[in-house]
Amino acid sequence: MKVLVVGGGGREHALITKILENPGVSAVYAMPGNGGIARIARCLPGGGARNSAADIEAVLGYVKTYGIDFVVVSPDDPLVAGMASAVRAAGVRAFGPDAGAAAIEGSKVFAKNLMKKYDIPTARYETFDNGADAMSYIRKLNHFPAVIKADGLALGKGVFIAADYAEAEDAVKKIMIDKLFGSSGGSVVVEEYLEGPEVTVLAFTDSKTIAPMVSSMDHKRAFDGDAGPNTGGMGVIAPNPHYTEETAAFCMERIFRPTIRAMNKEGRPFKGCLYFGLMLTSSGPKVIEYNCRFGDPEAQATLPLLETDLLSIMQAVEEERLADIEIRFKRAASCCLVLASGGYPGTYSAGFRITEPAAPSPDTSYFYAGVEQKEDGLYTSGGRVLGITALAENLDRAVKKAYREAEKVSFEGMYYRRDIGGKALAPVID
Ligand code: AMP
Ligand code: GLY
Repeated sequence: MKVLVVGGGGREHALITKILENPGVSAVYAMPGNGGIARIARCLPGGGARNSAADIEAVLGYVKTYGIDFVVVSPDDPLVAGMASAVRAAGVRAFGPDAGAAAIEGSKVFAKNLMKKYDIPTARYETFDNGADAMSYIRKLNHFPAVIKADGLALGKGVFIAADYAEAEDAVKKIMIDKLFGSSGGSVVVEEYLEGPEVTVLAFTDSKTIAPMVSSMDHKRAFDGDAGPNTGGMGVIAPNPHYTEETAAFCMERIFRPTIRAMNKEGRPFKGCLYFGLMLTSSGPKVIEYNCRFGDPEAQATLPLLETDLLSIMQAVEEERLADIEIRFKRAASCCLVLASGGYPGTYSAGFRITEPAAPSPDTSYFYAGVEQKEDGLYTSGGRVLGITALAENLDRAVKKAYREAEKVSFEGMYYRRDIGGKALAPVID
């Protein structure tokens, strides 16, 4: 079986690593992949000058040229643009939701209205397609912090937590007038500020059955102590110590299953990996966001814990027979640290040689993201450069192991958070 994975980050490196465990796989291709992924898969150029993963025509061409049997569409933008739908229409099986179902991430207005209609717990909100109306609502509410979100995809940067009216005004202006996120800023959601530990739950679903994976905790801010700007994610621990069995049972009944049923009722059956971003508030778990894909870096921490063959699960999802598969995870813990370029998520320099050990330590993986292969080794080419994931019998050990491994890697300007898992596990880090 020949598999094509669309995407080129640490998440895709983790996915390909798992897919290669299936003995029936004869070749894995990645579009566009990266210099690290090229060590285990054949990388094919993406579309256009930007080597884009969102080029549907390029994927359809590769499917024909290389006789691909199964396509995994991993990132949000090609999913929202309908790449999985297009692959299926061409008669090839795919993992990832159709465009209609991917709207659960592609439009925050759609997602919020879905939750309201089907009584799924989330922050109270209003939506606006006009900046003046949004501002007069914020003034009337007079409750800060206020949360303001651009409707569409915004590379994880479309959420503003405004401490006062001036900051709220600035956020609405950036989204709706300056169009910082282009057409994603046609509408805004203004919502209630929630407090509590955050949990990510990734779940396989074929629209009939939903199978949550091990829970995890991302660390979105750039710097220690949750300071600095939001990033794509700087590190993850799994499982999430705040996510008890009782919470999991509540989420299954009140959030996970109702979401699947709601999407079916709306005529948008979701097949793929559904990402639940939850906040455990004093009045119970609430949905902060849905994503239509694996989280990154969450996948880098979660997938190495998966015992069941990933490709078999993906095929079962596509063929709507997920109920027949038993999905098992290792009884272990995992920690992923993201090593980033100095300046990320703002501007940063790239092109620096990465020094790394000849091989990772046992139970440790390197998942490459912003890297480029040159004759004498890997060089940095992006903001999040690589993730180091360590597994151990408990979280405390996994965290320590990941930090020990990170000391073996260096490149100019490299930085990473020193407190991943720290707040949840304090005091684990010596
Ligand atoms: P999102 O892109 O929706 O994941 O939002 C990015 C981050 O903003 C989340 O991980 C939360 O930490 C924070 N956030 C989003 N919505 C809220 C909210 N209603 N209350 C508090 N924090 C929020
Ligand atoms: N790590 C957050 C995300 O994948 O959206």
